Amino acid sequence: MAEKIEAVIVRKGTEDRVGQALRESDERFRKAFDYSAIGMALVSLSGRFLKVNSALCEITGYGEEELLAKTFQTITHVDDMVEEVAYTQKLIAGEIHHFTLEMRYIHKCGRIIWILLNVSLVRDECDSPLYFIAQIQDITERKQAEEMLRKSEKLNAVGQLAAGVAHEVRNPLTVLKGFIQLMQAQREDEQGHLALMMSEVEHIEAIITEFLVLAKPQAIRFQSNDLATIISHVAALISTRAVMNSIQISTRIAADLPHIECDENQIKQVFVNMLQNAVESMPGGGLIMITAARLGKDHVQIRFIDEGCGIAKERISHLGEPFYSNKEKGTGLGLMVSYKIIETHKGTIKVESRVGKGTVFTIILPVSQLVKKQHG
Ligand SMILES: Nc1ncnc2c1ncn2[C@@H]1O[C@H](COP(=O)(O)OP(=O)(O)OP(=O)(O)O)[C@@H](O)[C@H]1O
Ligand SMILES: [Mg+2]
Repeated sequence: MAEKIEAVIVRKGTEDRVGQALRESDERFRKAFDYSAIGMALVSLSGRFLKVNSALCEITGYGEEELLAKTFQTITHVDDMVEEVAYTQKLIAGEIHHFTLEMRYIHKCGRIIWILLNVSLVRDECDSPLYFIAQIQDITERKQAEEMLRKSEKLNAVGQLAAGVAHEVRNPLTVLKGFIQLMQAQREDEQGHLALMMSEVEHIEAIITEFLVLAKPQAIRFQSNDLATIISHVAALISTRAVMNSIQISTRIAADLPHIECDENQIKQVFVNMLQNAVESMPGGGLIMITAARLGKDHVQIRFIDEGCGIAKERISHLGEPFYSNKEKGTGLGLMVSYKIIETHKGTIKVESRVGKGTVFTIILPVSQLVKKQHG
């Protein structure tokens, strides 16, 4: 009898220790899940979030409860849905054991986040699928850096091409233009054709001029300039075109706007490009607003606000790529050159747009190139 009791006590002790060990192990797993720096989730076969950790909440912007009420489909970017679902089906079918995808989620605030998704499937002892384990890493910054690199590589290639072509094409073009002007003075009967020839030659010349900005970055001269004067010159330059299109250009320049160190002609070229695009986006007329104000101690912010056709979301990331134009007569170089110039000035350009409502281009420039250099 005593032996029996002793055996029971020993067994009970062992069970307690095993139970305790299991509880500790559970707790360790729960903590590893909760505190993981990588977003983690257990997801049902239909896509519902069963368990999510705080890193995933931070990546997506949703609280735990909010995520648990969602499916992964509802936060997946519509263009990545098919691929993601196809992979999960392959997992369930046992064709693959896990998959890794670079894809997009939509953050709670509506912006796109790039994520690296890693998914595997947990099965029961009969090999039936139970749930997915997903690991999610935010790779938005890396993607943006890659995108910038891709754009700047394209820019370099175009720049090199420009250096060669621009020089060769410009001289014969000047000769052609001279002869057309001569003929315009002499041939009354051909004025229509000659005007057309002149406008085409001027179009080619405009392309070449923009190419040359890329080809000659060393020609930049930074000087202290009054932005208000530059803006009013540029607005005056475009005003005839604007009036012809029933567009009003209005400016709101802060009284305390500091002078900035810039290459006047280049900044003018950027502003002209911005205004031309704004005018071209408003065939039905409307208002273009230019604002300029101080931004902190070291920067100024210039905004071009139009009421034009707007730019679709998926087109925005392509802006600034060479020859990216949807205009019959556009070269698709205006923004590329503008981006390049602003980059040389250590500034930034940001675009916000709503289709059918309008577009806002925000340019931020350092007041002094020196201040910026000292700060890094
Ligand atoms: N304010 C704007 N509103 C709507 N779309 C715009 C605006 N600015 C730029 N875009 C879009 O971006 C494209 C690229 O602009 P970009 O200035 O580089 O080239 P472009 O105007 O087509 O040609 P160009 O080289 O003659 O300027 C345009 O074709 C247009 O579709
Ligand atoms: Mg343009």
